[in-house]
Amino acid sequence: MAQEVRGVIAPGKDEPVRIETVVVPDPGPGEAVVRVQACGVCHTDLHYKQGGINDDFPFLLGHEAAGVVESVGDDVTDVAPGDFVILNWRAVCGHCRACLRGRPWYCFDTHNAQQKMTLTDGTELSPALGIGAFAEKTLVAAGQCTKVDPAVAPQVAGLLGCGVMAGIGAAINTGNVGRGDSVAVIGCGGVGDAAIAGSRLAGAAKIIAVDIDDRKLETARSMGATHTVNSRTSDPVEAIRDLTGGFGADVVIEAVGRPETYRQAFYARDLAGTVVLVGVPTPDMKIELPLLDVFGRGGSLKSSWYGDCLPSRDFPMLIDLHLQGRLDLGAFVTETIALDEVEKAFERMHRGDVLRSVVVL
Ligand SMILES: NC(=O)c1ccc[n+]([C@@H]2O[C@H](COP(=O)([O-])OP(=O)(O)OC[C@H]3O[C@@H](n4cnc5c(N)ncnc54)[C@H](O)[C@@H]3O)[C@@H](O)[C@H]2O)c1
Ligand SMILES: [Zn+2]
Ligand SMILES: [Zn+2]
Repeated sequence: MAQEVRGVIAPGKDEPVRIETVVVPDPGPGEAVVRVQACGVCHTDLHYKQGGINDDFPFLLGHEAAGVVESVGDDVTDVAPGDFVILNWRAVCGHCRACLRGRPWYCFDTHNAQQKMTLTDGTELSPALGIGAFAEKTLVAAGQCTKVDPAVAPQVAGLLGCGVMAGIGAAINTGNVGRGDSVAVIGCGGVGDAAIAGSRLAGAAKIIAVDIDDRKLETARSMGATHTVNSRTSDPVEAIRDLTGGFGADVVIEAVGRPETYRQAFYARDLAGTVVLVGVPTPDMKIELPLLDVFGRGGSLKSSWYGDCLPSRDFPMLIDLHLQGRLDLGAFVTETIALDEVEKAFERMHRGDVLRSVVVL
């Protein structure tokens, strides 16, 4: 029997979101229905609402979630009703060329639920990142459910489902930050701060936070930044070089998603250093660099989708580190809100007032 639940819908480009009744089918083969307990508001949800991802309106927003598995399809064995899970957007297929080469974190054919959730009039919904968790319940592929220690609060656990994992992974997986490294992070929202926390966890000796907002720099410090640079008032490339003996940082993580900040990252790294682009650009953005600089400076220019995470490997590990007091995931939760406050949360995010607003159900 399909169920009717409340969910947050983005009806059309730039239209305000609204609560609608969502029809959630029973899980079929390979699927699970999850009772959502918490879901963070990510910048990508706002991109969806603005039409910046694609035009498949209406969207069922929300994708940074944790909850309890309510029911599973007949053939599902990895998770069972009652399991506490974080939802992921990288349910690896096991068969694509990345998976077959032993690099499942690059999986090119990730799974989502086969059936569609709909409005009561039958209109099919596009769940954000194949999740759609600003809803009391959601239908996902069973592989999108990653079991973690239920001792953690859902509003904290859910953050690993997207932005915080993307940031931590940009540092520890993509950037391969190690003991003693110098790291600079440009853009200190939820993703950038997570990159700072990840760099601290990995043993970076120097962590330079760059933002245009002093409030963000203050929080960045509490997350582990050893130095801060306001790039509205000083040149970030010069400042990062000054702080690293005139050379630049070993790893520079761009967590804004703009050409000018990418250029800063490119020139603020040391020779043979690494740039990690974790911020998401829009389709119109372009960058021009002297090819000789690309060649001559060596090193690697990488992008980081979801922090190159493997949910089954990384989620339980990071939750364990959090429970041991070695990674303060709770510090990312600025406020908890109700399902009908998502539009307001977007405004606060836009003004830069929050790191993460988390819907608690
Ligand atoms: N790669 C991934 O898998 C992934 C996952 C989640 C989010 N993201 C992306 O990461 C980016 C950051 O997300 P967020 O949730 O932290 O957003 P956010 O809005 O909370 O943070 C952005 C930060 O960048 C700062 N900023 C803006 N312009 C700047 C500039 N010119 N120089 C320096 N700082 C500047 C802002 O003050 C803010 O602190 C977004 O583009 C988002 O879409 C990527
Ligand atoms: Zn695959
Ligand atoms: Zn996200």
